[in-house]
Amino acid sequence: AIKTLNNSASCSHLLRRGYGSEAVPDRKVAVLGAAGGIGQPLALLMKLNPLVSSLALYDIANTPGVAADVSHINTRSEVKGYVGEEELGKALEGSDVVIIPAGVPRKPGMTRDDLFNINAGIVKGLCEAIAKYCPNALVNMISNPVNSTVPIASEVFKKAGTYDEKRLFGVTTLDVVRAKTFYAGKAEVPVAEVNVPVVGGHAGITILPLFSQATPKANLADEEIQALTKRTQDGGTEVVEAKAGKGSATLSMAYAGAIFADACLKGLNGVPDVVECSFVQSSVTELPFFASKVRLGKNGVEEIIGLGPLSDYEKEGLEKLKPELLASIEKGIKFANN
Ligand code: NAI
Repeated sequence: AIKTLNNSASCSHLLRRGYGSEAVPDRKVAVLGAAGGIGQPLALLMKLNPLVSSLALYDIANTPGVAADVSHINTRSEVKGYVGEEELGKALEGSDVVIIPAGVPRKPGMTRDDLFNINAGIVKGLCEAIAKYCPNALVNMISNPVNSTVPIASEVFKKAGTYDEKRLFGVTTLDVVRAKTFYAGKAEVPVAEVNVPVVGGHAGITILPLFSQATPKANLADEEIQALTKRTQDGGTEVVEAKAGKGSATLSMAYAGAIFADACLKGLNGVPDVVECSFVQSSVTELPFFASKVRLGKNGVEEIIGLGPLSDYEKEGLEKLKPELLASIEKGIKFANN
């Protein structure tokens, strides 16, 4: 009995500490596609985030149930569900961060680009609404193909006259999450201490993990680095195949999306030295958009951090990915302007 008491006492203490809301500014987060495979666990994780004061869950169907469910969790944020296009404006109004996991996922045999036809239209419509109802929000784009949906968003915002390149992010955090996990396993170092930048884009060979910069350092052979690189690039396909027609990564993606949104919120709140990799408008290479380490601040992107020294293998990978990434970027821009 004493043990139980102790446990519950320390538990409520943790909750009080973690979720005390004094001194933390109000922040509204909207999740678009909140009833989906990613959307639901992401809604849960955002409900657990003490930086969120208002959580808007939007989808074209099923959000009332998800919102009612999540809203019973005794954490800071107030949760509201919005369903159908006529409620999109209300869902978005006043949002500081908008996370977009709306759209169809891959099935075995599909590439992310095969999703283009459906998801491009969904993203375009949602971004038109963002431009209208919360033009200053930080947009976290999860819907694939990210290499094209981010350029689509930028064109929609430009047309609406609201584009601010500092506020648009392609979420590539799952590539970083995977690179860290796979590296820790191979290098036999504690996963919690691992850092690995992942640059380029978010599909196949455009995903370029920089294991030469990974910490803690480990003396891995070239073949091991190449295998880790390939596994990181194909990590999404590994999940798609294991799910055998039931979709793509949802739980690990929700985790990654929650990490990235948390970084955006910390940046907005003025926490110093918040750095995450993201696919953003960039002059790090000659391509108009590129993923690299980004410092987040009160206005979104505070600083885009360069690639740093690359190994010969990474230099080769960088040159190889450029034509494919550029084609995906141009495809998105063309779609948005037609
Ligand atoms: P899902 O099909 O389970 O959920 C998608 C949700 O979007 C559904 O609830 C659907 O009703 C909703 N939706 C469709 N049209 C909408 C609209 N116009 N407005 C609002 N909601 C709408 O799919 P899942 O597994 O959640 O994947 C979502 C997207 O995330 C896919 O495009 C997938 O490829 C992408 N993804 C991205 C990753 C990344 O690393 N950036 C990783 C994994 C998936």
